Amino acid sequence: MYWMGIDVGTGGTRALLVNDKGEVRHGFTSPHDEMRMERPMWAEQRPENWWDASQAAMQGVLKHADAKGSDVRGIGLSGQMHGLVMMDEAGKVIRPSLIWCDQRSQPQVDWINERAGKQNVVAWTANPVLTGFTLPKLLWVRDHEPAHYGRLRRMLLPKDYLRYQLTGEYATEVSDASGTALLDVVNRRWSTALLEKLGLDASILPKVHESPDVTGQLTKAAAQATGLAEGTPVVGGGGDQAASAVGNGIVSAGIASCTVGTSGVVFAHLDKPSYDAPGRVHTFCHAVPGAWHVMGVTQGAGLSLQWFRNQLAPGADYDALTAEAAKAPPASQGLFWLPYLMGERTPHLDANARGGWIGLTAKHTRADLIRSLLEGVSFSQKDCLTIIEQMGVRISSVRLSGGGARSEFWRRMFANIFDRRVATLASQEGSAYGAALLAMVGTGAFASVPEACSRVIRETASVDPNQDEARTYGAAYEIYQSLYPALKAVYPAIQGMRS
Ligand code: XUL
Repeated sequence: MYWMGIDVGTGGTRALLVNDKGEVRHGFTSPHDEMRMERPMWAEQRPENWWDASQAAMQGVLKHADAKGSDVRGIGLSGQMHGLVMMDEAGKVIRPSLIWCDQRSQPQVDWINERAGKQNVVAWTANPVLTGFTLPKLLWVRDHEPAHYGRLRRMLLPKDYLRYQLTGEYATEVSDASGTALLDVVNRRWSTALLEKLGLDASILPKVHESPDVTGQLTKAAAQATGLAEGTPVVGGGGDQAASAVGNGIVSAGIASCTVGTSGVVFAHLDKPSYDAPGRVHTFCHAVPGAWHVMGVTQGAGLSLQWFRNQLAPGADYDALTAEAAKAPPASQGLFWLPYLMGERTPHLDANARGGWIGLTAKHTRADLIRSLLEGVSFSQKDCLTIIEQMGVRISSVRLSGGGARSEFWRRMFANIFDRRVATLASQEGSAYGAALLAMVGTGAFASVPEACSRVIRETASVDPNQDEARTYGAAYEIYQSLYPALKAVYPAIQGMRS
């Protein structure tokens, strides 16, 4: 007997099978096409490509496990957040999705603030509206592609497009819906106040559920396409960060996670909504019914290393790159990497911010370039952690997950830069695992999300900071923090150049 968790990531879709004890048994990933970047700071993917990859991942994991579709008792979905999927009357995708890191919508953010009032937006949705969120992306299409906008009947998030393909239902759940800028996060329902103020038709929005709720059953066509059984229940699941938090056991106060995938996210559980006044971190609904969370986001975390590999070390694998980085000294001989490859959310909320190295000299080696890049991403994650703690959220330890947690070298660096103990878990599966646990809760295998987590999640290793390195990094972090303010005024001019 199995439960399946599926995560529609940026690089690929992963399907995971978990047994009745909540143990991971098999996983299979099918890659996506590269994101399309027609201009700097624009990023699109095709939802149809996600669906193809999902079918391959589901078939792949069943084959790998030598399992029958009818062995799977429930499915949970997770996926990259904030992406805009536009559906027409016939249930067809209207145009490629503007995904989470797309930054083209500042004029639409300004329009929303003017029309609705910046303070009202925060009062109604618990967050300022940001270029990365779904609503301004939709309004960009309204303003630039009226023919596409005219055909819109439903707006979906990436994993909810997969749900539509699997069940025929237009539905979402509170954690992912929080990132649209249209959810009344405190009351866990769409914000009618904001919809009315902006003159938007509520019928374009899917039904919003709690994350463990069953939202529909697999159709016959989807069963044929995936190898699963018709009628298999599909639960709400979660945005990748909330689902990953379930998979990492961040379902009560005190522990935070740091998840480095394409993005990097520091995530902490909240029993009640609480806010950073300037909105530098997001306050969203958790995938745990009745709970919320706060998270800080580095846009270009794993993306920084991926960019380096693709452009400057083609064909190298990530282990070889981190081994090379280990040859450089801590703080990379005064070299700093700013990871703002797709603008930045936390702490700058600046769609125009640009990445780069500062401090380069003729003495620096490629090892310094790579090490400084890992350090810059880690400093940016420390920015997130610091703001969350400044809000009064108590964090006794940090659990690492995502691709970044697989490198022992980077784990030690995180411990030294955060200057605290970091832990890793028995399961490194994050989002897909959390989605599978939500499916188990929704189909009655566990009574609640916290119960599932307390039964199945275990820390297996931890690293304590080395005091010398922590001191070196403490001084370097102060310099890192002074770089963005020094460069801030230049970014709009660069953005304004003809690309
Ligand atoms: C979270 C966020 C990213 C994406 C991609 O707010 O934008 O983590 O979900 O993983």
